[in-house]
Amino acid sequence: MKNTIFILNDDSPKYQQIYEQFKSFIKRGDIHPNDSLPSIRQLAESLQVSRNTTLMAYEQLLAEGYIRSEARKGYFVNELQQVLVQDTFNPPHKKHKVTVTPVEVDFRAGAVDQTNFPLKIWRRISNQVLTLPESFRYGEPFGEVCLREQIATYLFQYRGVKTEPNAIIIGSSTQQMLIHLGQILKDDNAGIIIEDPGYDGAMEAFRFHRFRIETLPVYETGANFSVLEKLESRLIYVTPSHQSPLGVSMSIQQRQMLIHWANNKNGFIIEDDYDSEFRYTQRPFPALASIDSTRVIYLGNFSKSFLPGIRLSYMVLPELLLNRYKKQFLHFESTSSLLSQLTMAKFMEEGEWNRHIKRMRLVYKRKMQCLVSELKKHFKQSISIIGEQSGLFVLVKVHLNHSEEWLIERASIYGVKVYPTSIYFIKNHPAEAIIKLGFSNLTRDEIQKGVKLLNKAWED
Ligand SMILES: Cc1ncc(COP(=O)(O)O)c(C=O)c1O
Repeated sequence: MKNTIFILNDDSPKYQQIYEQFKSFIKRGDIHPNDSLPSIRQLAESLQVSRNTTLMAYEQLLAEGYIRSEARKGYFVNELQQVLVQDTFNPPHKKHKVTVTPVEVDFRAGAVDQTNFPLKIWRRISNQVLTLPESFRYGEPFGEVCLREQIATYLFQYRGVKTEPNAIIIGSSTQQMLIHLGQILKDDNAGIIIEDPGYDGAMEAFRFHRFRIETLPVYETGANFSVLEKLESRLIYVTPSHQSPLGVSMSIQQRQMLIHWANNKNGFIIEDDYDSEFRYTQRPFPALASIDSTRVIYLGNFSKSFLPGIRLSYMVLPELLLNRYKKQFLHFESTSSLLSQLTMAKFMEEGEWNRHIKRMRLVYKRKMQCLVSELKKHFKQSISIIGEQSGLFVLVKVHLNHSEEWLIERASIYGVKVYPTSIYFIKNHPAEAIIKLGFSNLTRDEIQKGVKLLNKAWED
């Protein structure tokens, strides 16, 4: 499997091409009976396709008997009859190659720094929590009161949001919160305005509920709010502190204007405050919900500030929606781990959360500075950097007249994994390719090495 090269083009569905090429590798003997195949996730990552695509390819191969699935071991190639092996083989069009090469530097944004994770403290508190009688039952449907109290204090102190613990709902992820919210906000002809470009995960949640989607164009300088009056929806999803993915922050005038819009329309603003802890040049801007929370649904999570795998997020519901939400979901169990909630509550109560955020802001600030200065040093005028004031990633606009696909593929040949941004754009497509570089779990050396390799890949 090591030296197998996949050639993907745009002529037919990607899953079908992967399936066809696997079939050819098996028939040609490039892959032998009983060889193991990469996992669905590994293959999806190395080919830059979705897991669903590789899953569909594997399901087709399974159904036709080319491969088998073994519980907890993975996928393996089956023995084939000679007659099948002699089947015709049509080489696919050669448009571009994607090679399965080892990744040396992965600029993944969906990660956090591992070396500064407070492992000892978290372990100690987790152990304590496991001695509590309340750890041995189901949790509260809307989240543990002790954690909701801690979050309410944190939101007031650091985000300026005044709320009662009772108005906070704890769940497992932003998307899960949005799916729940969608359930209470959708009506027969529900529409929602989302940022373009914007967070694809949110868009999927709204699509799930078949919301009619309208778009608010966003640029490096900010959103074009003048379009709002032409749009029909009464619901808007925004990322005011750190626009996802362009990184701009909404000015106080724009925030006030948006609140005015929601009041006029009797609508609601969903404020996703997903990584506001990490602002490097000034203090984090106060949340939109701190100005007027009557029509703002505030979303927060622990994925960027602590650990994505903890699957812990929350929302603050305005009074107008709280009863509706609670009535709808009272009989559903909590979607987030009781143990994680109790541990996080204690972690916050002991002041460890504030210490962690303070420490990580400095760690990430240094990494951001390192990445930005390396990019400027190597690329000079060939790129523009977007969003260096905050967050755990930057966007790089590449002025070298190459497509996003080419840039990602060239980088992968040099062992560097970089990420697309085209998935975030709906109609407001940029003229030049923009690449996303996360840095949170990379060391200084890795950042330096990664940028050097990228420079070779793109400019040589
Ligand atoms: C805009 C935005 N909101 C929220 C999240 C966090 O999602 P989750 O709660 O699933 O970790 C992300 C993750 O990348 C994001 O980009």
